[in-house]
Amino acid sequence: MNIILIGPPGSGKGTQSKFIVKKFGIAQLSTGDMLRSNIALKTEIGKKAKSIIDSGELVSDEIILDIIADRIEEQDCLKGFILDGFPRNINQAKGLDKMLQKLNKKIDIVIELTMVEKDLFNRIRTRSKETKFARADDTEEVLKKRLEIYEMQTKPIIPYYENKNLLHKVNGMESVENVAENIYEILMKVNI
Ligand code: AP5
Ligand code: MG
Repeated sequence: MNIILIGPPGSGKGTQSKFIVKKFGIAQLSTGDMLRSNIALKTEIGKKAKSIIDSGELVSDEIILDIIADRIEEQDCLKGFILDGFPRNINQAKGLDKMLQKLNKKIDIVIELTMVEKDLFNRIRTRSKETKFARADDTEEVLKKRLEIYEMQTKPIIPYYENKNLLHKVNGMESVENVAENIYEILMKVNI
């Protein structure tokens, strides 16, 4: 089963991906985590990405599509994968479609976590304290920028998947357990 999880920053994409990975034994592909590990390892990609991530803008599609193209062919993706934080704009969504076509694979389901903005600020504030400010983009100012980018660039991919009849919406403001249960029910219905 190949899944896309869409939602604004702080909506719980990372949290819910971990549950799905455990339940279905598929791989989690988080472009944000991959970029952060490149930054920690000081790779060429990490050097290019750091200031962009810290400002809340999007890293170039070229870098992102290359990272995903390599990762998606790894052994642990054979059983399926969950894309967390990718695609982030229409160009990435189209790039993904081309990539999957070549590999004779497809996206089976897209889940959108819906949220109101106020809750996102609370969550990011809590996370930044819990992680001792590990993520430089977890500030109110950068979150505002990330939300602007989400509205302008990422939201348009929602109708793109709605038109393909792949989109399911889940209320991301319920408890972690309830959101996980609601996602699980949808995935069981699709039953791939
Ligand atoms: P990325 O790492 O993808 O960050 P994001 O989209 O901003 O989202 P977050 O990771 O902040 O939130 P999340 O939805 O995963 O929520 P989480 O589960 O952590 O991207 C970072 C940057 O990398 C981008 O700005 C961009 O620069 C770059 N980038 C990444 N992908 C890219 C791409 N494809 N193209 C270009 N650039 C890209 O939860 C948040 C908090 O809330 C946690 O503390 C959690 O414990 C808590 N929580 C979760 N669920 C609940 C709940 N139900 N109730 C209460 N608390 C909850
Ligand atoms: Mg995340």
